[in-house]
Amino acid sequence: MLVLAALSAACGPSGPATPESRGRGVYAAYDCKRCHRVGYDGGDTGPDLTFVGFRKSAEFLDAWLRDPAAWQPNTLMPNFRLGDGPRADLAAYLATLKGEAYRAGPGAPWDSFGFKGNALKRGAAVYARAGCVTCHGAGGKGGYRNNNAIGGLVPAVEKAAQGFSREELVKRISDGVAHPVKADPAGAEPMLRMPAWKEVLSPDEIEAVADYVLSLAPPSKEDW
Ligand code: HEC
Ligand code: HEC
Repeated sequence: MLVLAALSAACGPSGPATPESRGRGVYAAYDCKRCHRVGYDGGDTGPDLTFVGFRKSAEFLDAWLRDPAAWQPNTLMPNFRLGDGPRADLAAYLATLKGEAYRAGPGAPWDSFGFKGNALKRGAAVYARAGCVTCHGAGGKGGYRNNNAIGGLVPAVEKAAQGFSREELVKRISDGVAHPVKADPAGAEPMLRMPAWKEVLSPDEIEAVADYVLSLAPPSKEDW
């Protein structure tokens, strides 16, 4: 009886506590949803986290949560000074977020009525909500740091139209780049890597975001 009572206290009504379930509790306790959304729940000051566990590696999540400003100076994201245990649990919870909140529920925001038949508007929403913006910046202008990447930054994509055909762009977004080129070949692998988006986005969504990226290209000098 004693053993049973102790077990049920540790487990709660929904099964044994896992790092992921504890991490969900940390997310709620620190009110992350004040600034972030998962699915249709939360605010818009910070990026949509619905796909965060797909786009960001576990090691990046840990480094970011440890000290956001050490990675990105002037960020609005506070340093919550989490202990090692809660930080690991929170990262484990975030790592589970790979788009299900849109797929399982009412559908992705870019499938709502106002986006029908407007590929660029759809693509802009995929860029924002799937989180291209968290690495390539608003309007594809770049500016996000990446350790040991050439130039120390994730590349801007606003001029992709000058370097890629539409077909090449769709392929790059679909397949990703598993191993970005290192600035120092002997150094660590850059923590931000271009994901293979075909794992979580449909061909139609990838084409929409590719068309959005192509639409960003400012006219080149030769066009004047
Ligand atoms: C005051 C608003 C605010 C709060 C509260 C906040 N964040 Fe953030 N967060 C941001 C902003 C803004 C960014 C984007 C980074 C930038 O551009 O500075 C960000 C970025 C992130 C990122 C990395 C970028 C990505 O891919 O999405 C993660 C992960 C994250 N936040 C998780 C959390 C978690 C977990 C909490 C709660 C412990 C939290 N945030 C609380 C504002 C906030
Ligand atoms: C976790 C960060 C991250 C996210 C999120 C991300 N990318 Fe990337 N992306 C990169 C990195 C790093 C590279 C450079 C890869 C290399 O070394 O060639 C890259 C390269 C690219 C390139 C080629 C740029 C060039 O000049 O070679 C395009 C286009 C691109 N990304 C589009 C997107 C789109 C569209 C999305 C969203 C669907 C996206 N990326 C999401 C990190 C990211």
